[in-house]
Order: sequence, then C-alpha cells, then structure tokens
Amino acid sequence: LLVLHLFVLFPVPVTCATRGVDLVQDGVVVLCPPDCSHWTGSVFGTGVYASISSVCGAAVHSGVLGPTGGHVRVHKLQGRHNYMSSYAHGLQSQPLHSWTASFKLTSRLSTTHRADGNIETTDLKLKLFVCFFVCFFVCLFVCFCADCQMDIAVVIDSSSNIGQRRFNLQKNFVTKLAAMLRVGPTGPHVGLIQASDSPRTEFLLTNYTQPKELLFAIREVAYLGGDTNTGKAIMHTAETFFTQENGGRRGHPRVMMVLVDGWPSDDLEQAAMLARESGINVFLVSVAKPAPEELATVRDKDFMKKAVCKDNGFFSYLIPTWFSTTKHVKPLAQRLCSLDSLLCSRTCYNSVNIGFLIDGSSSIGEGNFQLQLDFLAGIARNFDISDVGARIGAVQFTYEQRLEFGLFDHSNKEDAIAALRRVPYMSGGTATGAAISYTTQNLFRRTARGRNFLIVVTDGQSYDNVRGPALAAQQQGIIIYAVGVAWAPLEDLKAMSSEPKESHTFFTREFTGLAEFIPPLVRGICRDFTENN
Ligand SMILES: *[C@@H]1O[C@H](CO)[C@@H](O)[C@H](O)[C@H]1NC(C)=O
Repeated sequence: LLVLHLFVLFPVPVTCATRGVDLVQDGVVVLCPPDCSHWTGSVFGTGVYASISSVCGAAVHSGVLGPTGGHVRVHKLQGRHNYMSSYAHGLQSQPLHSWTASFKLTSRLSTTHRADGNIETTDLKLKLFVCFFVCFFVCLFVCFCADCQMDIAVVIDSSSNIGQRRFNLQKNFVTKLAAMLRVGPTGPHVGLIQASDSPRTEFLLTNYTQPKELLFAIREVAYLGGDTNTGKAIMHTAETFFTQENGGRRGHPRVMMVLVDGWPSDDLEQAAMLARESGINVFLVSVAKPAPEELATVRDKDFMKKAVCKDNGFFSYLIPTWFSTTKHVKPLAQRLCSLDSLLCSRTCYNSVNIGFLIDGSSSIGEGNFQLQLDFLAGIARNFDISDVGARIGAVQFTYEQRLEFGLFDHSNKEDAIAALRRVPYMSGGTATGAAISYTTQNLFRRTARGRNFLIVVTDGQSYDNVRGPALAAQQQGIIIYAVGVAWAPLEDLKAMSSEPKESHTFFTREFTGLAEFIPPLVRGICRDFTENN
C-alpha cells in the first residue's frame, strides 16, 4: 500500500512512448516530457483512449497537456468499442474498433469524480498520512547522519583478561558501530586507541575517513594483552588524541568511548577529570561487569561513575556479554551523536568561568545596588552553569573586599543566581585596583587559562591605581570587561579592560541603562572564548 501510494504522491516520469497499459496504478500522476504532439500514430480515441495509446500524446489531444509537457493524472477505465478519431489541439488521433482497457486524463489537481467526493477526501487524507510518514523517516535518517559531526576516540580493551576470542568479538562490535556511524570527510571521524599496560594509538581521527578503509583498519588491530590500564589510556587520549596536529577538528564535539571488559586495573578519576576539563565527552561501555563475588577484587567499585562525562546515566552503558552486542550498536551510536546531551563539549556557554566584581560603595544606594545585581544575574542566565559547565563567582568591594561565593560553590544555575541575588550591600569607599588583585588571587585560583572572565562594575573613580592590577590579571589569562556607571571615568574603565578596549568597555549614565549591555557582553565573552580555544 505504501509503495502504491507513493506512486500517486510523487509523479512518475514517463516518455512520449509510455502507453496506458504500462502504468499499473489507477490515478497515477505522470510527468510528461515536452513535444509529445507528434505521436499522432499512437493515440486511439477521443476523450477516452484505448490503453495502447501514448499517455502523453493523448494528454495533448485531450487538451490537459500543453506542448511544453507537465503533470497529468491517468484514470483507468474499462475496455470499449468504437474509439473515435478526431483532430484536437494540433494532434490527429486514430480510430480503433475495440480494445480491452481504456484511460482518460485530467490535470493533476482537478477533481473529476464529484459523485465520489468522499473517496477523494479519504484518498487525500491517506496521501497526507503517507507523506507525513515518509517525511518523518527521511528526516530522521538525514538528521541523524547529518548531525553526527563528532570526533570520536574509541578506546578498546586489549588486556590479558579479555582474551583473544572476546577481543575479536569486541573488534566486531566496534566495526558494526563504525559502520552505523557512517564516517566520512564531513561526518564523524573515528580513531582507535588500545588500553593495555601502556596505551597505544592505533590510528588517528583523520587516518581513515572512508568507511571501507576504517572497517578494514579496525579488523587489522592486533591484540596486545597485559593489564587493563584504562585510566592511563583515557589520560593519554585526553592529552594528545584530539589536538589539531593529530587531526582534531576545531568546533567539533569530542567524544571518547571507552570499552571495558570486567573492570580496570588502575584509577580513572584523574584521567576523567582531565578529559572533562578538556571538553571531551567520556562514555564508558562496560561489558561483562564484575559479578558480586568479584567485587572484592575491583580496585574502585565506582569506576563507571568516575570515568564518565557526567554521572547521569547517559554516559554509562552496560552490555551483559560479548556474545550478544548487536542490538546495542544502534542505541549506542545514537547516544554518541546526541549533540544536545554531550554536556562536556566545550562552548562559550558551558565552559567559561565568570567572576563578577560588584561595586558596594556608598554612592550607589540600595536601589541601584539591586539593579547592579539584576544586570549580573541577567548575564549569568545566558550560561549553562553546572558542575561540568560554566561557573560564576562574585566578589564585592569597597575599600575592602569580600568573597561572596566562589566558582566552585554552586553546581547549578538556580543556586548560583540565587546566591548572586542574595549578596548584601556593603556600603563604603571605592578601591577598584585592590579589588582586582584580590579577585585574581582568590576567585580564579585553580582554573584553566582561556576561559576566565572578570566583569568589573563600578560607579565612580577608584582611590587606587587600577592599571597595574588589571594588567597582572590579564597576564594570568583573565579577560576583563569594564562596565562604568554615572561618575566612573572612561580612562579608568579603559585602563582596566582587555584589548580591544572598544569591545571590552561599557558606560552608561544610569543604572537602568545596564540591562542593554547584557547581549553585547555575552556575545563578547563567546567571541573571546572562541578566539582562545
Ligand atoms: C595517521 O596519520 C598520521 C599523520 O597524518 C601519520 O603520521 C600516521 O602514520 C598515520 N597512521 C596510520 C596508521 O596510517
């Protein structure tokens, strides 16, 4: 039924020689080429044509098709006696005494069967239904393939534990997975590392970008034996595998799928942390997990939780045995390609550390202080704050400095923004330089370069020098945005902000004007992040 209706739905291209008998389906729409009007010898009848007639010739004769060709609908009819000849629309048709079947033609869109209105409506509904399903599956297929732009490192288990036989089953599984992923120059790239005593990179992401070559390369991988030093392998992969020199593509999500037979012999935690920090989404596929009686020998029972990008179930995958892995190929391939779920991919939204330096001086007043907090909360709201995502922290300053909350104090967005809104107004003088130094030392301790941003808000002249502390902060990899209100001198703001000054300096007369800086500020942070990563 589906196939038949597809014929009704999508026009069938035909030639001038195509006869009515050649078309199987009633009501089919055909696409005629131009210039069928000289097929005079093969059109029998008038209005109703014998089924040996040229469909497109008859269409010209009956007036539903012009000389340039186009779509016509063919309706099947019973055989008749006496097909009459006539001259119409520049074409002479032939007479025929009798024939076993006939057809007539209408334009594609016309509804001839007024009496059969219900049938036409049902037909139309069915067509829409079919169309919906066809489109749905086509989209599903296209989207699934087109969206998978990941760089994927497959870490396989090559330890003595697994043994040659299961090692081969593992290769088989990886081959099927790679086939399902449809690698290609613009699609996903796959490279392979073996975990054993020491990790061994078998091939890099760009070595095989044709499916055939890749599948062949996987089959050729030789078994190593030794310990299951999965941690070492993750570390090795996180450090070297995705670099641009090794074929990692800028801006493509990074995925590491680690296969473990049984359990690892070393510790995964440090390695996994490095992978997360490097923007790599670690999946752990555990096959033949430890039985209860084996757990005593497992070095770290929580190895799965610690290894993965995030312990939310999505990054851990259990396969009971190597002997039935086929049904896991597709769900796993889909997970590796689910862009929205790859929480460890680094984008400006999920990878930055933003410090807010809040002016608490007396000149501001309680009302404007709240507007200042609104502004900063507005910025924060744009980022994916979580324990694997972006982080925010805040310092309030007058002559003194107070760490309101650190980058690692809140692990979700609601908590972090609530903490920001709760910051109590200090009231006092203005020493912006000292505040920048304090923040550099206290807020941004233990953070990676290239992702640290400081937003300084101030409403007045600083009593101390700002240039020196700001330069020191910038040398430590902190990018500074200076936002001035009311009496803040432009020279001070420019002395603090990072280069290029124009895009890192903002000024407004009133606190109510702060809100409109949110979009350009967020865009600026993303631009800086992209340039540095
Ligand atoms: C993979 O590519 C790298 C760099 O292009 C090259 O040095 C290496 O020999 C290749 N490895 C294989 C297995 O083809």
